[in-house]
Amino acid sequence: MTAAPSGSGPERAQRLLVLGANGPTGRLVVQQALDRGFAVTALTRRPESFPVEHDRLTVVGGDATDERTMDAALDGCDAVVSTIGTAYTWRPVQVYSASGRLVVEAMRRAGLRRLIIVTSMGAPREVHGKGLGQTVLMRLLRNTFSRTLYDDMLRLEQIVTASGLDWTIVRPPGLSNDPGTGYAIADTTIDGPGMARADLAAMLLDQVADTAWIGRTAAVATPGLRLDPVKVVREEILKR
Ligand SMILES: NC(=O)c1ccc[n+]([C@@H]2O[C@H](COP(=O)([O-])OP(=O)(O)OC[C@H]3O[C@@H](n4cnc5c(N)ncnc54)[C@H](OP(=O)(O)O)[C@@H]3O)[C@@H](O)[C@H]2O)c1
Repeated sequence: MTAAPSGSGPERAQRLLVLGANGPTGRLVVQQALDRGFAVTALTRRPESFPVEHDRLTVVGGDATDERTMDAALDGCDAVVSTIGTAYTWRPVQVYSASGRLVVEAMRRAGLRRLIIVTSMGAPREVHGKGLGQTVLMRLLRNTFSRTLYDDMLRLEQIVTASGLDWTIVRPPGLSNDPGTGYAIADTTIDGPGMARADLAAMLLDQVADTAWIGRTAAVATPGLRLDPVKVVREEILKR
């Protein structure tokens, strides 16, 4: 896949479909993609509240678990970035796998190859934290309070790895709205408890042109970023 387009030459801009576009990471992906010269299709169930306007942006209203919506959103796109997510819950979760299944099928029908999706550092059943204390805490969260969510992320990962597409799975740790300072990337595990959403958005967009992580799962983090537990509870759990 070629690098981000300049928008000034005779070639049309590469178009990205961003799923989860109206979430806090998705909005940054959309804005940064436009800044890099991409054309963007943003899928959201709440188009009326989408804050970005641009002549290379198309906002599609609809649910990513609806086949016709997905087909329509994918029309004219060259690659897909998914930041779809849902709140921590005890209840059954299906949005990751249901939207993943549909986007894989729609991409195959359309002959598209490049798919970049976000799951989480917490997705593996044998999740590892930094040191024994964090590992015990993360496994407790993984296998009790957030089990249904992480189990569905694993289902999504299975669908994507079996897709035959040019996929990259991205597993960040806890996200924050801090300014981006650059990201680290590693196979499977990474030493870092947090990631700025701005860095995650940049990493996802780098993948559109970078072939190094095709067919691989990337652990990512913002080096040196420490999450404030009170802020995490207030902004990432209670606000939802
Ligand atoms: N928060 C964390 O600390 C954390 C940690 C690790 C990984 N992650 C993952 O990182 C990604 C980004 O997280 P985030 O906290 O920035 O975003 P988020 O708050 O999880 O929002 C994701 C967006 O997904 C969209 N969405 C959900 N169900 C949908 C559906 N059926 N159809 C279409 N859109 C749907 C929602 O937008 P609309 O309502 O507008 O449609 C929502 O704004 C997610 O995959 C999340 O699971 C998060």
